Amino acid sequence: MVTTSNAATMQAIVCDAYGPPDNLKVGNVARPDLAADEVRIRSATAGINFPDSLIIKGAYQLKPPLPFVPGFEVAGEVIEVGSGVSAVHPGQRVMALTSSGHGAFAQEATARAAEVVPIPETMDYATAIALFTAYGTAFHALVQRGTVSPGETLVVLGASGGVGLAAVELGKAMGATVIAVSRTRARSATAAEMGADHVIGYAEEDVRKRVLELTGGRGADVCIDMLGGEPFQAMSRAMNWDGRLLVVGFTTGEIPKLPVNLVLLKGYQLVGVYWGGFLARDPAANSDNFRTLAEWIAQGRISPRIAARYPLEAVPTALNDLLSRRISGKLVIDIAPEANAGAVA
Ligand SMILES: NC(=O)c1ccc[n+]([C@@H]2O[C@H](COP(=O)([O-])OP(=O)(O)OC[C@H]3O[C@@H](n4cnc5c(N)ncnc54)[C@H](OP(=O)(O)O)[C@@H]3O)[C@@H](O)[C@H]2O)c1
Repeated sequence: MVTTSNAATMQAIVCDAYGPPDNLKVGNVARPDLAADEVRIRSATAGINFPDSLIIKGAYQLKPPLPFVPGFEVAGEVIEVGSGVSAVHPGQRVMALTSSGHGAFAQEATARAAEVVPIPETMDYATAIALFTAYGTAFHALVQRGTVSPGETLVVLGASGGVGLAAVELGKAMGATVIAVSRTRARSATAAEMGADHVIGYAEEDVRKRVLELTGGRGADVCIDMLGGEPFQAMSRAMNWDGRLLVVGFTTGEIPKLPVNLVLLKGYQLVGVYWGGFLARDPAANSDNFRTLAEWIAQGRISPRIAARYPLEAVPTALNDLLSRRISGKLVIDIAPEANAGAVA
């Protein structure tokens, strides 16, 4: 059910007390205000991301005042533009991060016009949302921050997650040898289907030892880390000379400490990755990244997958599925399923 631009309220998922996903409620909330530099999007799909599980329990860096609508990435049609917006127009299909950093699990959302990314004509909204944060982050990490070259060895820590699977597929498309690391080898089944050359289960094997075995003792040229904790500690000791250890996230809940003599002795770089910051600082470069991603999809070099889809009211189920680690890959919320009907994916 889609709200018209004249309706005073809209359907949304509401967090009115910090806690687990089951505390979330379906409710009617006021449509968000539109600032001069923003666009209003009629949401077709939203993506589930790990920080959604943190923000609802008050454990994320951003703590919106209660009650608030969670969710931070959305795909849909622009239905209104702010008074200062000329480069984006109503009717355009876009993918975006919400301007407030939350508010995506609702029938409408707002985003800064300068930061929205147009959706190619042939791409449906579900594919767009499967692409946006996961591939946007992994591409920025591997290309701008990690400068992965053909023939290099890429280790992906967190290869059963949304960003991790994107990194596996992009690493292969860039000509790297990819080692996918998940909790168990079985959790890496999708990564293997997507082309990973080797899989490691970090709860079953010694990650440092296995990476050194698989690389003839050299270690990884690039490691992209979504986990932190013990897997990061292992890789901080298994990097090749001139390597790049990319810090992306800490789903283990442990922000690791690094004895920096390792960086010196092994001659590698520790590189921070913050895709949202990159998008805000250089939206043109981000749009270039998405043009390349769209070309790679058209050429069949990559094919973003959706692990599971849920209606808006099932956001708590989707978050529980993420936290229980039952599903591997990107979880998509269908807010206006009819908007996807007939799209060419
Ligand atoms: N820096 C940036 O610009 C940026 C951008 C996007 C995302 N991120 C961060 O990157 C990380 C991964 O994001 P994502 O969207 O790929 O997440 P995701 O799809 O939820 O995947 C995360 C993976 O983390 C592992 N994990 C370890 N401990 C877990 C726990 N207690 N609960 C749930 N999963 C756990 C799981 O793999 P196993 O079961 O195999 O361990 C899971 O597949 C997050 O920390 C996110 O905040 C950072």
